[in-house]
Amino acid sequence: MADEPTLSNLSTETRSFPPSAEFAAQANATEEWYARAEADREAFWAEQAERLHWNQKWEKVLDWQPPFAKWFVGGKLNVAYNCVDRHVEAGYGDQVAFHWEGEPGDTRTITYADLKREVCKTANALASLGVKAGDRVAIQLPMIPEAVFSMLACARLGAMHSVVFGGFSASALKARIEDAECKLLITSDGQFRRGKPAPMKENADQAVEGTTIEHVLVVKRTEADVPWTEGRDIWWHDLVDKQSDEHTPEAFDSEHPLFILYTSGTTGKPKGILHTSGGYLTQAAYTHHVVFDHKPGESVYWCTADIGWVTGHSYIVYGPLANRATSVMYEGTPNTPHEGRHWEIVQKYGVTIYYTAPTLIRTFMKWGSDIPAKYDLSSLRVLGSVGEPINPEAWMWYREHVGRNNCPIVDTWWQTETGAIMISPLPGVTVAKPGSAMRPLPGISAEVVNDDGKPVGKGNGGYLVLDKPWPSMLRGIWGDEQRYRETYWSRFAEQGYYFAGDGAKYDEDGAIWLLGRVDDVMNVSGHRISTTEVESALVSHPAVAEAAVVGASDPTTGQGIVAFVILRGNVARDEASGTEMIKELRDHVAKEIGPIAKPRQIMVVEELPKTRSGKIMRRLLRDVAENREIGDVTTLADSTVMDLIAKGLKEGT
Ligand code: WTA
Repeated sequence: MADEPTLSNLSTETRSFPPSAEFAAQANATEEWYARAEADREAFWAEQAERLHWNQKWEKVLDWQPPFAKWFVGGKLNVAYNCVDRHVEAGYGDQVAFHWEGEPGDTRTITYADLKREVCKTANALASLGVKAGDRVAIQLPMIPEAVFSMLACARLGAMHSVVFGGFSASALKARIEDAECKLLITSDGQFRRGKPAPMKENADQAVEGTTIEHVLVVKRTEADVPWTEGRDIWWHDLVDKQSDEHTPEAFDSEHPLFILYTSGTTGKPKGILHTSGGYLTQAAYTHHVVFDHKPGESVYWCTADIGWVTGHSYIVYGPLANRATSVMYEGTPNTPHEGRHWEIVQKYGVTIYYTAPTLIRTFMKWGSDIPAKYDLSSLRVLGSVGEPINPEAWMWYREHVGRNNCPIVDTWWQTETGAIMISPLPGVTVAKPGSAMRPLPGISAEVVNDDGKPVGKGNGGYLVLDKPWPSMLRGIWGDEQRYRETYWSRFAEQGYYFAGDGAKYDEDGAIWLLGRVDDVMNVSGHRISTTEVESALVSHPAVAEAAVVGASDPTTGQGIVAFVILRGNVARDEASGTEMIKELRDHVAKEIGPIAKPRQIMVVEELPKTRSGKIMRRLLRDVAENREIGDVTTLADSTVMDLIAKGLKEGT
């Protein structure tokens, strides 16, 4: 177990913000929901499941055989039908589902009727390639509408999608394709990043070699010249455009698998988190409705996440579409072509709900409050935050400069594994404190416990656990039941709690404050990256003998990756400390994992601090990385190591 993380300014935070009477009067949820859910949890969730269209109603709300849950047992539904067709059938075909904004400034308006046609065509195209229920389809696409069509087409056919973030390298994509034995890869010729087209297809080609992939379906986005394998590669426009825009959806079991999404664990191998249909969609829809106070047909909703992460799955695709939302979808980076791009988009579409990550809020702060001040942001009603703890200063800045001091802020805690939001204020209900996720949502139960699994009580910190099953919980790790049991259910096996891997504390009022990971998982700009994953990438370079990686606090990205490496004996001393070598190692990590995993800093050292049992003491390395006085070294096998490292670093600078 790693050391307890801290948020230094927590104990002094006393500000709180009650909802306005006006907002409260029209809010989707009320205080009463907590008690109602508490009184009969299963009845509460059954009520939420009624948000969906079921072809066959469930017989039982929950079948809980720890650690395996089945929700809405015996029920049948089609997830894509729920997200698309039923809205068209109810007469909302002309309502905009997506205002899509491309990075270069091109736009597409996609109504629910358009969406239905596109999803049907895509489903027919996938079926023509032999994709059927239970198959796995890998998707690596930029933030373009075809990403949504592809996901929904899979859902419609009962095939599982495995979306891989566009910034992941060929080897990261390959590992994910191999683990899930995907049949088809959907990708594009390239993507626009920071005003320039960047290649994607080459990555895909490398990734699929020697795998189970039979076909690569390629969307034309940047018009780049791409390598082509006849017979295997197919242009999207050649195949999809000629399909019929009608497709009859089949109803699948409530527990039919919907998708796999890979996330970093504490070992080098990413975990394929498995989600199923009825429970997942129920909680995605319910949380999107109450946490964002979403009003179908009125709200204009924008979640700035990428579809490659769980936030994109639950809050760009499934939750909003199940609730007949009108969403903004933006392809590019927030400062292309200028630093006011997000606010320009808010103004253009009259965005009412804006959901983003603390790392971006801190970046906006850095760019200056005069930038949002230039735009009309008066349409905004609710602001959301996700991905990492939001520091009170960033919360206050968000409230003042984006929300004009009159939008409730919802700091939403959840994980890839939880599938949907678990802990969050409710707008119009909760008296929010800057930096606190406050309280589990109605229907959700969480605790903060000590090492023995006992609740710590008000004013104390410990581990965050989920003590009752919830509808959108992961159903396992793809192909690895043992790892599922060990990772989440072994730490508090006796109590039967789900171990989230996060530290948390209760304040004196019982509000929950998240404190960051307690394991070896880093959180860089809201992306989960394991220290082991980066260490393995580093040692796969021929010049590296050993590597230790820590997440050091970073004012913008939350944490930054700092690596300590020991080079092999045959690497000359001047070469070792040279900037060339450091650059090469950083690039090597980007190639192995992806640019998001590039260390912020690499320090070449002679030794690493280890305990007598050989475990690297990351705590001490974090002290170095964060320029702090080095802590207790008495458990080191060789207590002079830290002096050596400190001395070496001084010489190096
Ligand atoms: C962190 C993202 C504090 C946490 C939805 C969690 C947060 C991990 C918050 C999951 C928040 C997410 N406050 N920490 N509001 N939201 N986290 O799987 O450490 O990419 O365990 O899911 O992000 O990251 P993941």
